[in-house]
Amino acid sequence: MKIAVLPGDGIGPEIVAQAVKVLDVLRREGLGLEYEYGEMGGAGYDAAGDPYPPATSKLAREADAVLLGAVGGYRYDTLPRPLRPEQGLLRIRKELGLFANLRPAMLYPELASASSLKPEVVSGLDLMILRELTGDIYFGQPRGLRRTDEGEREGYDTMLYSESEISRIAHVGFKTAMKRGKRLCSVDKANVLETSVLWREVVTEISRDYPQVDLSHMYVDNAAMQLVRNPKQFDVILTGNMFGDILSDEASMLTGSIGMLPSASLDAEGKGLFEPIHGSAPDIAGQNVANPLATILSAAMMMRHTFNQEEAAARIEHAVRKALSDGFRTPDIHQEGMTRVGTKEMGDAVAARI
Ligand code: IPM
Ligand code: MG
Repeated sequence: MKIAVLPGDGIGPEIVAQAVKVLDVLRREGLGLEYEYGEMGGAGYDAAGDPYPPATSKLAREADAVLLGAVGGYRYDTLPRPLRPEQGLLRIRKELGLFANLRPAMLYPELASASSLKPEVVSGLDLMILRELTGDIYFGQPRGLRRTDEGEREGYDTMLYSESEISRIAHVGFKTAMKRGKRLCSVDKANVLETSVLWREVVTEISRDYPQVDLSHMYVDNAAMQLVRNPKQFDVILTGNMFGDILSDEASMLTGSIGMLPSASLDAEGKGLFEPIHGSAPDIAGQNVANPLATILSAAMMMRHTFNQEEAAARIEHAVRKALSDGFRTPDIHQEGMTRVGTKEMGDAVAARI
């Protein structure tokens, strides 16, 4: 199992080191893991003048899975767009065909009071957002900046989904629902957008292959509202790239701790890129205060989704739970009476509980 490890920027290197520490416990027990490190994002720009350097691309293509920290930093904000760290992320997603982005939002009972919503609204929350990741307005052509005949500046993008793009993500959506609560809510804006009219049609057609799954449709504005009104009504949310970007940030906050949530971005064969959903947090980088749990849980998702090592995945997840129930807390989730620890110490606590 060859893993390309791309720590990236900001807190990336610190949190990735903790995930590797945890994986190393399994490796020492005999799990055949191999790591190779590469540069990505701002680190790629610093090393090779490119947020996704050719050497990193080669490494990622040859590996079975990619573990990513986070990308981005103040220093890179003023670079021309193609050189910005985020472009590295978009390119690796596209190049590796990582069209299926799984973003679970679940609330650990130990952290129920960390949510900004009332405990009764969020306790027991366990939903999965499945976001299409390589199409939509993020990649649609044409796009650009231009001047009108009158000389006014215009910016334009194209929202576009082909039938095959919709159907392959819809299949993942129904299969994901089959493994969970068998409810799939497809989110679109079919009252306004043609792209969404096709989306809804194709998802409905594919639902005939999955008679056990209860399919519903919801407009994205309503979905944004329902997520804070009654988030427990959802099991799996299936949506496009841009709506999924927005709704997954919203959903993450229901759990009170963006530092807790992992993600998987998978291709058609299950090869994937695994990363925390939070960013590079340059304001706290290098201070040993970042929460490494989202990255550690991303390593668990890697074991499950790419390597079919369900037992290894479950052991990592249990170890995280145990560290929390034993009272270990990084500053972002710290509460009275708990043991405040740093990034490294949290990594140690989880590793010791594998
Ligand atoms: C995410 C991020 C990215 C996205 C950015 C950094 C390009 O917000 O992974 O959700 O919009 O997809
Ligand atoms: Mg986002």
